[in-house]
Amino acid sequence: MKNKFAKLKKELCKQAIEHAQIPPELYHKFNVKRGLRNDDGSGVLVGLTEIGSVLGYEIIDQELVPVAGRLLYRGYDVEALARGARTRKRRLGYEETAYLLLFGELPANKQLEQFNELLVDSRELPKNFSRDIIMTFTPLNVMNSLASSVLSLYARDPDPDGLSPETLIRQSIELIAKFPPLIAYSYQALMHKLYKKSLVIHTPQVMYSTAENFLYMMRADGKFSELEARILDEVLILHAEHGGGNNSTFTTRVVSSTGSDTYSAIAAAIGSLKGPLHGGANIQVFNMMKHIKDAVSNIEDDAAVIECLEDILNKKAFDNQGKLYGFGHAVYTISDPRAICLKETAEELAKDKGRLDEFRLYCAVERLAPESFERVTGKKKKICANVDFYSGFVYDCLGIPVEVYTPLFAMARVAGWLAHRIEEIYASPRIIRPAYKNLTSPREYIGIKER
Ligand code: ACO
Repeated sequence: MKNKFAKLKKELCKQAIEHAQIPPELYHKFNVKRGLRNDDGSGVLVGLTEIGSVLGYEIIDQELVPVAGRLLYRGYDVEALARGARTRKRRLGYEETAYLLLFGELPANKQLEQFNELLVDSRELPKNFSRDIIMTFTPLNVMNSLASSVLSLYARDPDPDGLSPETLIRQSIELIAKFPPLIAYSYQALMHKLYKKSLVIHTPQVMYSTAENFLYMMRADGKFSELEARILDEVLILHAEHGGGNNSTFTTRVVSSTGSDTYSAIAAAIGSLKGPLHGGANIQVFNMMKHIKDAVSNIEDDAAVIECLEDILNKKAFDNQGKLYGFGHAVYTISDPRAICLKETAEELAKDKGRLDEFRLYCAVERLAPESFERVTGKKKKICANVDFYSGFVYDCLGIPVEVYTPLFAMARVAGWLAHRIEEIYASPRIIRPAYKNLTSPREYIGIKER
């Protein structure tokens, strides 16, 4: 009985896939910018922004020349932002970054304190929200729980469809503030329902920052060290923004360009970030490195590491997709500045936690992957470690479970998404609407008896 429709479903799948084929050469013939990319690999210019700037190459004499990567938020180097917070007694580094992204300027001390107070005031979830939404619908993936929670917040907003500055700023502050409890509670609900663990629901604390509150809510004993909070705060700064062209921010801009509401735009961005080629790569890197650890008995043996990397690229190992997760980027060529910062953090943590051997294996993979990629694919494109390569190792050292790696990315990036949403609505509004060429000739309708 269970397989009653098995044959029918198989045939339908075959038919659907047969009708989902476009000969690759036609993209070239019709000059299609596949993946919104130009022939030289650079992105098609589709907008202007004053928020994030991602630099990975220069165009000299119409040639794309690789350069060391740089990432600027409103003109400020992301590394300077991460370092700047280190000198303050009360860090609030992520809060400072969110302020900069939303309001365009670095906050003075009082402005930062006030902004933090607004976040603190908005942190708690609406009454019974955890019980009615998070605990009732508990998908296996925290990203899906986050997206459905965000969509559900629409129902608790007095002006959910409003596009006035007052509404957009209020919604932005509320979403940035509520992402940590939404993610922590979604994780706790999942552990409780799936693994029958005790349900841990800590109410956010007013004296804690975004990073501190997240660690507090994730842990049954609510404890965390200063080092852990500092590192998480820096990781959030590094993930907060990445220009308008990255898939999830562009998704935010696409949805926002229709005049739709904040909750729909942000839920769509969460769906985009979840994909393994985007933010979801941090989970894939962690799993891929587990595979490499198991396959390579001596981490000093470069030949064994290369063999393993080439098996992955040849679709013979790991997930058979031929992807080296945590490598490659649409813009960065020689280096991703976020990966450089995260590598330093990973080393600091590896020393602290006695995991230097594992860290060395990551370094070996980072060193050997670009050559393996070139050898196996024959592509000239330079690939380097991206933001997702070291982030999973850092999270693991912090005792953060793999289920929340991508949600943590979203917790940081929501500030960038919201800044781009405001810019999309107020800078130069026009619905985003590219074109698709249809390849099917018109056909006469055939009555059902004649088919
Ligand atoms: N492993 C295998 N092949 C790769 C990799 C990789 N890491 N990176 C690029 N390539 C391939 C691409 O598939 C493409 O092949 P094709 O010409 O046959 O289509 C070719 O190299 C050139 O690709 P690019 O134009 O440089 O990269 P693209 O912009 O298409 O993709 C992406 C960028 C998705 C990040 C890619 O590098 C990738 O798949 N990396 C692995 C997944 C990953 O780490 N994603 C996280 C990126 S960072 C972020 O989103 C937060």
